[in-house]
Amino acid sequence: MRSSKFVVLVAVLVAACGAPAAGRQSRPADGALVGVTMPTTSSERWIRDGENIKRDLESRGHRVDLQFAQNDVPNQVRQIEDQIARGAKLLIIASVDGSALTAPLQRAADARIPVIAYDRLLRGSQNVDYYSTFENFRVGVYQAESLLTGLGLRNADASRGAATGPFNVELFAGSADDNNSVFFFNGAMSVLRPYLDDGTLVVRSGQTEFQAVTTLRWDGETARKRMEEILTTTYRRSKVNGVLSPYDGISLGVLTALKDNGYGPGFPIVTGQDAELGSVKSIIAGQQYSTIYKDTRELATVTALMAEAVLKDRTPPQLNNLNDYHNGVKVVPAFLLNPVSVDRTNYHRVLVESGYYTDDQLR
Ligand code: BGC
Repeated sequence: MRSSKFVVLVAVLVAACGAPAAGRQSRPADGALVGVTMPTTSSERWIRDGENIKRDLESRGHRVDLQFAQNDVPNQVRQIEDQIARGAKLLIIASVDGSALTAPLQRAADARIPVIAYDRLLRGSQNVDYYSTFENFRVGVYQAESLLTGLGLRNADASRGAATGPFNVELFAGSADDNNSVFFFNGAMSVLRPYLDDGTLVVRSGQTEFQAVTTLRWDGETARKRMEEILTTTYRRSKVNGVLSPYDGISLGVLTALKDNGYGPGFPIVTGQDAELGSVKSIIAGQQYSTIYKDTRELATVTALMAEAVLKDRTPPQLNNLNDYHNGVKVVPAFLLNPVSVDRTNYHRVLVESGYYTDDQLR
């Protein structure tokens, strides 16, 4: 949602343009080449992110080289090295594997090119200047809360629901090489843990540890296979009532496995993330239960403002998190945006009235 709070925030960011960072000379931003690398085109969100950020930076007079790594680490390394060789003045990187870019990041630092980690934290390197993302822990909290709401254990106003359980649930996490996956999972488990501890929620597969439930590269087909395996080995005589899914592509994979095993109409509660078109349609059709909307237009704008400051050798104003994103070497100063939980009750207000989707797209 393009909230008025966000508009005010952007106005403040623009006005405040930051103080020159100590000891650095100011450089003109005009026409600077900015290298942007996104992880994949297999998910709509990254296409939108890439396009939004390119448009935003170009409207500010910069040149942009936008690359998609197609979930291939060596590919992303090559793309970044190429951008460095072509004289990029700034790199904006949404990584495939957050820990796999230390070598190109060192080369960027050697060439005095600053780096902004976009949405996914770059780990294991000193050479990351700033980080723009969403409140990732809160994403997980919202996913778990909507799972509880869907099951009837919690009301939308956060009061205790009428249902008592016990309910069978299964857990999915994102890719283990993405720092966000840990935040999402920990956020979700902070809500679910008491329900698991007192037996209101039961994970019949026994797979409750992060490492056991991750999904390499967030791949929907990998998730489908895991769900299929769980259903055929564990749920021959019982039903699964809910699935914690961290991403819409995984949710659709899980729903396919459920359909293949005789579920529906009337599906278990399946969560998600990114408000991708297929999943929003599935929510409207009463299949997927919820998703988490992250307005990539806001993330692109905030990142472009950050880029503007960095290109002028200024500290980006209004960094709002200086503590939580330790990348194994240093704490990366971050700007975090708010995610929004979406289900059938509010999708129209949040997604259509904000202009993210048109009614036609959702038909
Ligand atoms: C992003 C999520 C996205 C996931 C899969 C994460 O790093 O924060 O929004 O669902 O990657 O693409």
